[in-house]
Amino acid sequence: MKDIEEIKKYLKIILSEKRYLHSIATMKMAIKLAKKYNIDTQKAALTALTHDIGKELAYEEKLKYAKDKNIEIDEIERKSPGLLHGKIGANIVKEKYAFSKDMQDAIKYHTTGHPNMDLLAKIIFVADKIEETRDYEDVEKVRKLAFEDINKCIIYILNYNIKANTKNGKLVHENSILTIEKLKR
Ligand SMILES: [Fe+2]
Ligand SMILES: [Fe+2]
Repeated sequence: MKDIEEIKKYLKIILSEKRYLHSIATMKMAIKLAKKYNIDTQKAALTALTHDIGKELAYEEKLKYAKDKNIEIDEIERKSPGLLHGKIGANIVKEKYAFSKDMQDAIKYHTTGHPNMDLLAKIIFVADKIEETRDYEDVEKVRKLAFEDINKCIIYILNYNIKANTKNGKLVHENSILTIEKLKR
């Protein structure tokens, strides 16, 4: 497995300054959450650091990458290819860094959520939304909830996003709905 410094150097080249700083901040938050919930901090750090590795490919590049690598694109992803950066990122870390399946899945699921999320995936999902550079109305509340009850925190974030998307006329991915249903059980 590659080391963190080497990956940081690569991300610094391919990502904008803002997204690079977001990636570092997500890593820092994922380490805190990994400690709180007793999972491997190194694994959480590497996964969080690379979670947006596919994000800055242009629209056409995303579609081409997915096609070249036989990545399945659903209807909502075709309309909002931004969503595809999870699946693309998962494939990049598999090929480039030989990350394990659970790390790939955590990256795959970090945008919409997924009913099959394990604890690593939950931590990456949440760390992405609450890292220190994030600023939105409820962020302090969500940060607190993250360390109290990670499942409730995910439900809160997804409901918040669904409301925002609906208001902005954007589509809601069914994985978000399925995740809420699963976590409420
Ligand atoms: Fe992302
Ligand atoms: Fe992100």
